[in-house]
Amino acid sequence: MHRKDSPGFSTLAVRTGHRRTAEGEHSEPIFATSSFVFSSAAEAAARFAGNEPGNIYSRFTNPTVQAFEERLAALEGGEACVATASGMSAILSLCLGLLRVGDHIVSSRAIFGSTTMLFNNYLSRFGIAVSYVPLSDVAAWGDAIRPQTRLLFVETPSNPLTEMVDIRALAELAHSRECLLAVDNCFCTPALQRPLALGADLVIHSATKYLDGQGRCVGGAVVGGRKLVGEDVFGVIRTAGPSMSPFNAWVFLKGLETLELRMLAHARSAQALAEWLDAHRAVERIYYPGLASHPQYSLVGTQQITGGGILAFEVRGGREAAWRVIDATRMLSITANLGDTKTTITHPATTTHGRLTPEERAAAGISEGLIRIAVGLENVEDIEADLMLGLEAP
Ligand SMILES: Cc1ncc(COP(=O)(O)O)c(C=O)c1O
Repeated sequence: MHRKDSPGFSTLAVRTGHRRTAEGEHSEPIFATSSFVFSSAAEAAARFAGNEPGNIYSRFTNPTVQAFEERLAALEGGEACVATASGMSAILSLCLGLLRVGDHIVSSRAIFGSTTMLFNNYLSRFGIAVSYVPLSDVAAWGDAIRPQTRLLFVETPSNPLTEMVDIRALAELAHSRECLLAVDNCFCTPALQRPLALGADLVIHSATKYLDGQGRCVGGAVVGGRKLVGEDVFGVIRTAGPSMSPFNAWVFLKGLETLELRMLAHARSAQALAEWLDAHRAVERIYYPGLASHPQYSLVGTQQITGGGILAFEVRGGREAAWRVIDATRMLSITANLGDTKTTITHPATTTHGRLTPEERAAAGISEGLIRIAVGLENVEDIEADLMLGLEAP
């Protein structure tokens, strides 16, 4: 059907950001250069003074990296995007660019472990305080906001328990109290959820996950408005240098081209696997947004298109039983990464959440029998058969 409005998601994912050079290349080139040459001293001076557009040095800008930034900005519906060396440096750059001594962050409790450590162990040294609240409880977010609060930070769905919050409600709250809302959109990607359209001010990515999609490179990004991201966060990247390498940007560009297809396939298999596990007698409890039993099931189909590609489940018998299931697998990859074509299986209590105290783990709902699966693109029957080896062991 002919579309008169803007191009569709996959068209943007395949086409945005590539300005063909005089060579006429079809695939985006990798600009493997640290600096750029000027035609004269006057041109160099004009570029450095910001009076003339153009590249200077790849810590500041690089055409391959810019192509990735333009493409991801288009997919998230943001005015600006800056690419970073990792997901963590995206979060650090956002905080350095937008916060100052005395500011306060309210964050959901269930966030990525390194993000918690960045907030607690490093930002605290520079006079930035953080309070944690239960993710889905919007009233608790409101109660935690202080006059000094500048940023609300959330991951939805959460890792590994897939808890969700109503982003629209949180954005309204943030703006009514003069705060910014940042959403880590690593689990859903813009193919399934677009936080900026729901009112968020900033989106964070670990491009390492689904944006790459094949577990090859580490990278990150911040997406949002021209001033906040294009100037304030970009200033940190340019000055402090956690920039993305052109080679990694090229890998992520290729990853974005198949993002929608992959995310829908990941989610389709995750839904089938969740239903299968839900009916299995060895499984005590399952966490997957696409099941009607999920507490925030009503947000699936409205806020995020599907349940996504990640699920967690508890087996009867605690750590021993969970390790037995993990160790019995022959095909699944025992690794903590996610968002790969290869299905990964993780025991959160002793890996991603292993540095928490037992009390902190209990408060976060991470039990010893919990297993997380980031469902890949193998045939789902083969994933089930691999899990069956441990689930049905005598
Ligand atoms: C939700 C989430 N945010 C951020 C990060 C950090 O990203 P990176 O490992 O690319 O620094 C991760 C990494 O696992 C993550 O899962």
